[in-house]
Amino acid sequence: MTLLKREQIPTVGLDFMNHDHQAAAEQINQLDQLIRQTRQGDKESQQQIEPLLKEIYAHSEHHFAHEEAEMVRVNFPAYECHKGEHERVLEELNQVLLQWQNNQDIEQLDDFLNTTLCHWLINHISTMDSVTAMFVGRYDHAVA
Ligand SMILES: [Fe+2]
Ligand SMILES: [Fe+2]
Repeated sequence: MTLLKREQIPTVGLDFMNHDHQAAAEQINQLDQLIRQTRQGDKESQQQIEPLLKEIYAHSEHHFAHEEAEMVRVNFPAYECHKGEHERVLEELNQVLLQWQNNQDIEQLDDFLNTTLCHWLINHISTMDSVTAMFVGRYDHAVA
């Protein structure tokens, strides 16, 4: 079973964003699978969680930085708001990694993934990312 299906991820008007969002959803699905296997007592899956959490952080950092660079390029008016949300989530992902390193609490990690991260991703894409992609698309069309 897959936690996030491809079609659940909203499509926005910029390909690089859609590509990053699909990659983020894939990482979420990998984490979900590792959590389920860890719950069944698979030690190898448990050991793969920490590197995956680090990959999720690194990919998010890269994904957010690319969006922020585009917002700066087109002088997007809600830049600070969108960037602030990225920073908040990076901090949250960092806290989740630290918590996992400290306590290996699978319930806590599962709860974060299912009740927070999945919903955040879909909600963020359908609001801030959609508006940003639309603005960038119009800007590029106008200057072309
Ligand atoms: Fe995004
Ligand atoms: Fe974003």
